[in-house]
Amino acid sequence: AVVDFESRPIVLVGLMGAGKSSIGRRLASQLGLPFRDADAEIEAASNLTVAEFFEIHGEAAFREGERKVIARLLNEPRHVLATGGGAFMNKKTRALISRKGCSIWLRAELDVIYKRCMKRNNRPLLKTGNPKATLKKLMEERYPVYAEADITIDSGDGPHEIVVDKIIAAL
Ligand code: S3P
Repeated sequence: AVVDFESRPIVLVGLMGAGKSSIGRRLASQLGLPFRDADAEIEAASNLTVAEFFEIHGEAAFREGERKVIARLLNEPRHVLATGGGAFMNKKTRALISRKGCSIWLRAELDVIYKRCMKRNNRPLLKTGNPKATLKKLMEERYPVYAEADITIDSGDGPHEIVVDKIIAAL
């Protein structure tokens, strides 16, 4: 059967610092679609920051909350959805996204990701240990899975407008 990608929510996946939220917001405004951010929805629903949520409830509870939030958002009319970097790594969440969304992996190199994450390090996964080594390990684990997204876009280091244009051309 032909998949009606054109009516599906556009779901941005990829590692933290790849630009999912900022590029997603721009993409949405350019397409005239609403923008949603899964991390922000979890923060609003729990009245905690993502970092606090991790601290208080742990990562497993976060992944469960994330899956529920994404399931709810995917039932809304077409929009652009930025997901947290771990969302697509969760088997159930990934299955939901594959079934109901058009997924786009924003791919970026380690140095770009590292630089962006260090600007304002509020990522619970980078709070302990060597952040660059952690990011490298996450890239090795996650990139093969992110590659299952419907579309891959190199987000590079350049202006976001260019990435947005690349996404629109690929849709
Ligand atoms: C996570 C990424 C974060 C946030 C949480 C866990 C991850 O989102 O959901 O800290 O596992 O990669 P961003 O990708 O928006 O930073």
